[in-house]
Amino acid sequence: MSSPIITVMTAAVRKAARALQRDYGEIAFLQVSQKGPGDFVTIADQRCDKILREELSKARPGYAFLTEETGSVPGTDPDHRFLIDPIDGTMNFMHAVPMFAITVALERKDELVAAITYNPVSDEMYTAEKGGGAFLNNKRLRVAQRRDIHDTLVSYEVPHRGGKDLPLSRAEIAVLQQRVVGIRSPGSAALSLAYVAAGRFDAMICRNISKWDMAAGILLVREAGGFVSDPDSERNPMQTGNILATNADLMPQFKAALGKAREA
Ligand code: IPD
Ligand code: CA
Repeated sequence: MSSPIITVMTAAVRKAARALQRDYGEIAFLQVSQKGPGDFVTIADQRCDKILREELSKARPGYAFLTEETGSVPGTDPDHRFLIDPIDGTMNFMHAVPMFAITVALERKDELVAAITYNPVSDEMYTAEKGGGAFLNNKRLRVAQRRDIHDTLVSYEVPHRGGKDLPLSRAEIAVLQQRVVGIRSPGSAALSLAYVAAGRFDAMICRNISKWDMAAGILLVREAGGFVSDPDSERNPMQTGNILATNADLMPQFKAALGKAREA
């Protein structure tokens, strides 16, 4: 049984996803405008954003929003805010690579309390509520239990051309390649976090992302028994924009490996 807020959020996401699926089917005809290198925004992003805000406002009037397409939309309720990325993995979407997601989180008094990440192509609905566990299509999730970094499969987002921290990313990938079994760069931070929650990736590392990219994924990972941290400190990734998500045993091993890369 889903809670009322998860029911509201999944209904909004499913409605937005129907529009997105139509756009995905006609990808070649999408009108595209360029926001900056590697960062495209499509008509589909904006449509999806609008549907999500409309549906969520109908069900929870007064809640504020922070979305990738609209920015900050103040509400009359000082305690609640939805964080939305209508398409995380826009570049994949544009290239018809079926690795993108609608991702929505709810904060209450600055604390993440509910989360949805949905891949409309694979029809995978990841949900989490604070204290209630994480689920994939209603099946309970648990992070992977591997204890040695040398046994792990890791998601590391390669920055786009001209992106920030290119030398650091190269150094980190070089160090990780010496230690882990394999590295993937899926192109959607939100889905990578959901995959950590599902025990598919042992860890994910991503730098210079926004709150809406990681908010839902953070709650999914925590509710699946995992941990998130800034890779370079004990700070909250929502504040620094850099995130490392993994299990308790692997956290210090990944931090040590990334520390080596910073020294290099
Ligand atoms: C991007 C994805 C990607 C990350 C980028 C983000 P977008 O979001 O999350 O994994 O590496 O930094 O900008 O632009 O597809 O919504
Ligand atoms: Ca994004």
